[in-house]
Amino acid sequence: MSTATAPDIAFPLLGGRYHFLLRRLHSLTGIVFGGYLVVHLIINATIAQGGGVYQQQVDKIHSLPWLPVIEWIFIFLPIIYHASYGTWIILTGQPNNASYPYVKNWNYLLQRVSAVIIILFLAFHVLSLKYDVFGKALFFDPHQAQRTIVLHMHFSPVTAWVVYPIGVLASCFHTANGFFTAAVTWGLAVSAGGQRRWGYLCIAVFVLLFAAGMVALVAAATQRVPGPIHTGGGPAIG
Ligand code: HEM
Repeated sequence: MSTATAPDIAFPLLGGRYHFLLRRLHSLTGIVFGGYLVVHLIINATIAQGGGVYQQQVDKIHSLPWLPVIEWIFIFLPIIYHASYGTWIILTGQPNNASYPYVKNWNYLLQRVSAVIIILFLAFHVLSLKYDVFGKALFFDPHQAQRTIVLHMHFSPVTAWVVYPIGVLASCFHTANGFFTAAVTWGLAVSAGGQRRWGYLCIAVFVLLFAAGMVALVAAATQRVPGPIHTGGGPAIG
């Protein structure tokens, strides 16, 4: 058994290792949330195909066993950790490296600005659609999927044409730029050529993701409010 005592240098090293793990967890939870957003926006884009198709997708999700447990483990806890640790990164200020090329300096700043927008957007989006905090006109009923998301988008022009476009834009940028930096963090895009090719792919991810979000938004904001679906005698909402 060794009797050697740890040198003073062990404290900063241990702190450094802890910091490293927290940063990796931050990156990992960002990838999980980004993956969720890709699926979420594509599913919501099916609103454009009509209420029947959209309702089928929502039914598939809501027929999953243990849905609240799945949502908390794969969506809410990763987001809460990612947002909390990300806020700490922003507040403690990680100075930008002056030797970065111009575009990366902008991306560094925009990643932080979009993070703040997403936190505000998500608070409104999730509290209204999932937890009915802002009343029935903004609430989402999974049994009346098209009707209630169309009502949500018709609530006010500001919601549909200011809050949502900004929220979707910020989310798509943050996700695509986060995918780029994650590949660098995990050592998957190391060389200049590799980073350039991965950068092009991330731009494609941004464009497709933003297009899916806007298809969902424009469809929901411009469709006529459909009549309620009567399901087995229960009162229809809205
Ligand atoms: C036009 C675009 C969007 C539409 C139509 C939309 C629609 C919805 C709907 C209907 C729900 C409730 C789902 C349910 O209860 O089954 C929901 C939840 C949620 N949305 Fe969105 N969303 C959009 C954009 C976004 C964006 C940009 C983000 C990310 C920042 C996001 C993140 C979430 C989260 C985290 C939830 C709660 C998770 C859950 O459903 O369990 N959404 N959204």
